[in-house]
Amino acid sequence: MPGQGDLKGHGGPVKSVATSPDGVGIVSGSFDYSMMYWDVADAANPALRKRFSDHDGAVNAVAVLPDGRHAVTGSDDGMVRLLDLKTGAVEHVFEGHDLKVVDLAVSPDGKLVVSASWDRTLRIWSLAERRLLHVLKGHRNTVNAAVFSTDGQFIYSTGTDAAIRKWKVSDGSEQRVVYRNGWGINVLAALPGGRELAFGALNGTAAVLDIESGEIAHQLAQRDRPILSVAMSAEHKVLAFGGGDGIVSVHDMNDWTPVKLLDNPYGPIWALTFAGDGDTLYLGGLDDTVHYWQFRPGRDFEPARGKFPRRFQADEGLSVGERQFARKCSVCHTLSPDDANRAGPTLYGVFGREAGTLPGYPYSKALLDSDIVWNAETIGKLFEKGPQHLVPGTKMPLQKMSNAEERDAMIAWLKEKTKSLPGQATE
Ligand code: HEC
Repeated sequence: MPGQGDLKGHGGPVKSVATSPDGVGIVSGSFDYSMMYWDVADAANPALRKRFSDHDGAVNAVAVLPDGRHAVTGSDDGMVRLLDLKTGAVEHVFEGHDLKVVDLAVSPDGKLVVSASWDRTLRIWSLAERRLLHVLKGHRNTVNAAVFSTDGQFIYSTGTDAAIRKWKVSDGSEQRVVYRNGWGINVLAALPGGRELAFGALNGTAAVLDIESGEIAHQLAQRDRPILSVAMSAEHKVLAFGGGDGIVSVHDMNDWTPVKLLDNPYGPIWALTFAGDGDTLYLGGLDDTVHYWQFRPGRDFEPARGKFPRRFQADEGLSVGERQFARKCSVCHTLSPDDANRAGPTLYGVFGREAGTLPGYPYSKALLDSDIVWNAETIGKLFEKGPQHLVPGTKMPLQKMSNAEERDAMIAWLKEKTKSLPGQATE
């Protein structure tokens, strides 16, 4: 059946996925500000176990601890959270990065987590002591990825400065630059045995690097678009890369032969993880679904049937106002009573509504404390200079609509649209 086994529930693009050590739990982070925990023991009938929506921004990175019970998440809001997958509790919030956190790695013993951030630093946090241990400074630009060495003594990191750097975990000192690439590097994996790293770069290169010599040991792929994701199963000796071109390639780590190639109809692959017995992959990207793909034995990918993700819909023929809403708001807001798990509250009935009053939605304190009532004027103000100006501290992203004509058209359309819904209060 097409799409069987897919994980459906996110209200925005999927940015990160990871598998629990037993191979039957999946965690997924999304642009919708939430992380979801799925039970995939019965792969054909996955079950959503928990939804965490405490971050104030997209969830870019997720990892499950070796105990299988806890997970860590990293977000656009700069925070790293330690979560209990069983109870749903937020056990700790690690605060310190100045900009978004884009990758996380947990040490092999499960005691430490390292976070990679666009603030050009990495931070090593003690999960047991719940505190910052070291700030790793040296990258000249945004840091995109980090991994622990297989023995847990070192961290390798990389980013837009195209350098792979090696750090000592015990004191956070930089050891050396292991490799310099011609292009920024997006993803890293530490291969079993401790002597090699796999990386994927902005210019589409996917390769295996010998750490000691700094030489490329195997060139695995050269694509036209950036490599955006990597997954590895040390146990099952498989490595996979996902790219901006929508291609997922699976490689056999014994002899580096290609195992399988997938051309994903939904576009870029932002997130990848192996599950089960290393014969299945879960992949995430632009559409809101985490897609299930059993690639061994040679099963074809089965695209989900049904409505095509809204971000692929052509918007020609729409009025100016509707087009503005489709492009700038619809990824985070519905106009129907159901918010569809999107990042923001539904705007159903928003005209005349007091800010921050929709039951059940986790508003920021800033919006809860404001005494704004939404109408054409206040929504106009919200986007004339950007939400941060009207409501400092809101978790709505920085976004302006400086073109007054487009802004007014969008507001008029929104008002009309919400007015035409039956049985709701309008201004
Ligand atoms: C990336 C996601 C995102 C985008 C894009 C976005 N919003 Fe929001 N919006 C949010 C979030 C999150 C909140 C809740 C803010 C808070 O609690 O501080 C919000 C809150 C709101 C509110 C207040 C609702 C209430 O119940 O008080 C309005 C009005 C709103 N958005 C309108 C818009 C419009 C119009 C656009 C397009 C021009 C837009 N938003 C684009 C995420 C988004």
